Amino acid sequence: MLKNLLATHAIESSPHVDAGEHISTGAHSQPDLVRVLTAKHLVLLGVGAVIGAGIFVITGQAAAQHAGPALAISFVIAGIACAFAGLCYAEFAAMLPISGSAYSYSYATLGEYVAWFVGWNLVLEYLFAASTVAAGWSGYFNELLRLIGSWTNTNIALPEALASAPYAFVEGHIQSTGALVNLPAVLIVAALSGLCYVGITQSAFVNSIIVAIKVTVILLFIAVTVHLVNPDNWHPFIPENEGPGVFGWSGVFRAATLVFFSYIGFDAVSTAAGEAKNPQRDMPIGILGSLAICTVLYIAMALVLTGITPFRELNTPEPVATALTHYPQLSWLKTIVVFGAITGLSSVILVMLMGLPRIFFSMSRDGLLPPALGKVHPKFRTPYVGQVIVGVAAAILAGLFPVSVLGELVSMGTLLAFATVCIGILVLRYTQPQLKRSFRVPFVWPVAILGALICVYLFWQAFEEHWRLMVTWIVLGQLIYIGYGYAHSKLRPKNA
Ligand code: ALA
Repeated sequence: MLKNLLATHAIESSPHVDAGEHISTGAHSQPDLVRVLTAKHLVLLGVGAVIGAGIFVITGQAAAQHAGPALAISFVIAGIACAFAGLCYAEFAAMLPISGSAYSYSYATLGEYVAWFVGWNLVLEYLFAASTVAAGWSGYFNELLRLIGSWTNTNIALPEALASAPYAFVEGHIQSTGALVNLPAVLIVAALSGLCYVGITQSAFVNSIIVAIKVTVILLFIAVTVHLVNPDNWHPFIPENEGPGVFGWSGVFRAATLVFFSYIGFDAVSTAAGEAKNPQRDMPIGILGSLAICTVLYIAMALVLTGITPFRELNTPEPVATALTHYPQLSWLKTIVVFGAITGLSSVILVMLMGLPRIFFSMSRDGLLPPALGKVHPKFRTPYVGQVIVGVAAAILAGLFPVSVLGELVSMGTLLAFATVCIGILVLRYTQPQLKRSFRVPFVWPVAILGALICVYLFWQAFEEHWRLMVTWIVLGQLIYIGYGYAHSKLRPKNA
């Protein structure tokens, strides 16, 4: 049995893939995903997945409750963890251009059991991130309806009962809030799932437009407000500690765990590796390029936000708009920020919804999930069964639950996956040094070890608070593996 749990997928360095060529992911007679994405698409996919609720929603809480102006340092810490993990992802994604991301990399290096564990954490990351961000999107959408109503003297905003979550987590228990359903959240998930269903090219095209809008809005915000920065707001840069995780260095690290959510998504680029035209060259560009762009934007935003407003005032669900409250002459910018947030959050939902069915696709073709999830639509060439299931599940979660705790669960799942990828890259360098690597992590030992350690440290900070939910999720995953995956794995001779 131990031999089965530790069984790895045999891997060979993949042959060079020419533009548009299909790569079979195994001996299957079914249609495969189609290779259409260029380096530009991949960078945009990354930026599309990364910039979202983290910067538009979570920064406020992180600055006001934990880091103060030192929020920028928290972004640097979380960025370093992501850069180390990103380098490891880049080496894997160029070497194994298939769609399973960290799941496939773990299968190739650490065995089936760890692969399932990582895959199950990726479900947490992608499904819950899509739902969390959709719930955040709903808040900004209703704010836009309110703004339009105020210009036209009409009341078109949705009532709270139809625009907020009917359940909330209070001290670890689910409580009813009296609302019916978060309707905008359900509708945005349904619309974007439909888009993912009809094709990766269409999805990538819509994503490119959205990314252009949100990056423009962020650059505009920085450019217009940078001369309003009052350096007094940055003193002291690290406010004095007021308790564990509340300001001081411990607060800076606690905020790093929170803002880690802002970086999640660059790894989603690797789920499109099965659809990249030239993955050996373009996957590292997509992963590291999107990460670099977002890191620079985040640090600039953190400095400007805390520079134009006393940090304690940023404790709202829309801190970027709140920071403009003291500047009535910039009400036009506030409207643009609300619009940018609505657009920006949409592309995060889109890429997360697109990523998960592709991970299911790999898991299903390995026998760990039912075969239906490995089917590709004959016309649209998308993993359509998984797409429908993911869409329905994400819509239900987004319609019923609020942002809060879900965000930290997403980060915990992702941190575990990142740590595993860092360890996996070392294992593969040791076990299969001969594999052709078109991208190699520089200084691989310190980079991979430090990457894994920082991820585990950030994971632990959130785990101490939310361990019950995390343990429940892990146990559920074990039950599915024992009940289905273990028996159906393609690595068992009887199933091959
Ligand atoms: N990084 C993504 C966001 O901030 C998940 O919304």
